Amino acid sequence: MRKADEWGEARVVAIHDVAADIREFQLSPQGGAAAYPSGAHLRVRVQLADGRWELRHYSLIGAAPRDGAWRIAVKRESPGRGGSRWMHALNVGATLDVAAPASHFELSPACSSVLLIAGGIGVTPLVGMAERLVARGAAVRMIQAARGRDGLAYGDELAALLGDGYRASIDDEGARIDFAAAFAALPADGECYVCGPAGMMAAARDAWHGVGRAADLLRFETFGGTGGAARAFTVRLPALGREVEVPADASMLDALERAGVEMLADCRRGECGLCAVDVLDCDSTIEHRDVFFSAEQHAEGKRICACVSRADGGTLSIDTYWRPAA
Ligand code: FES
Repeated sequence: MRKADEWGEARVVAIHDVAADIREFQLSPQGGAAAYPSGAHLRVRVQLADGRWELRHYSLIGAAPRDGAWRIAVKRESPGRGGSRWMHALNVGATLDVAAPASHFELSPACSSVLLIAGGIGVTPLVGMAERLVARGAAVRMIQAARGRDGLAYGDELAALLGDGYRASIDDEGARIDFAAAFAALPADGECYVCGPAGMMAAARDAWHGVGRAADLLRFETFGGTGGAARAFTVRLPALGREVEVPADASMLDALERAGVEMLADCRRGECGLCAVDVLDCDSTIEHRDVFFSAEQHAEGKRICACVSRADGGTLSIDTYWRPAA
């Protein structure tokens, strides 16, 4: 089995649509599709509309490879920077550069009563979790949220797997997840795994803490950069005497890195906090799209995760604490 930082080629052996704008790709890597842990993802090099190449993380579908292939699902984002459109334009037989599977969203080995909550394309890591939990005999329930019924990727599979434990929550039908009620139905030692857009994650986290649940029994993974349409803004770095323009279709982290500002980052999805910088001033509104900081910290507005959060136009002054060598 390759190590997580080893790269190789994988050939696309099958493609099919699993929901509106969501396409599944079955990938046959050189050397065979290795087993992977729960919550694992693949890193894939995709080409953007401007010709540059960039990494994307795609969760692996299911508890194990199927027919000797890894499966990933990609939502076509429009507008976007073009990576998902490039993926959707692939045909069977294309080759991709992929790193070996890695996971930072694993099921705890002991959990016996679990609630899974998915929003949109966030269902992808939870399919394999549901399969593993059923196989181990755990009590598992799942709420899958989508804007419309045509957005329920893998909904039929999950409903068949979980029976009465599965429920769809459809925005267009007026449904909203009642997180407090869902958490109240969990036993005291029950665990919850959530994957979805940042707003859903924040609502889940606030409700979890609001009902006094142990923080370490809530696990989540975002799919990053979500939160609605973005506007261009200027980021000012007084300590460096620099100003960097952040286009509407780029993250502040990407713009700063491209401008030669040294940044720390890991998840690039608003989860780990490694990219957080100090906010000195903002003449517009800060849009916090991370799940690392609490609602109180967002309200204070003293720090911001550069990978997903941004200003809604205007100018944002920050300090990264990085100083170029003299
Ligand atoms: S890199 Fe992890 S929160 Fe930004």
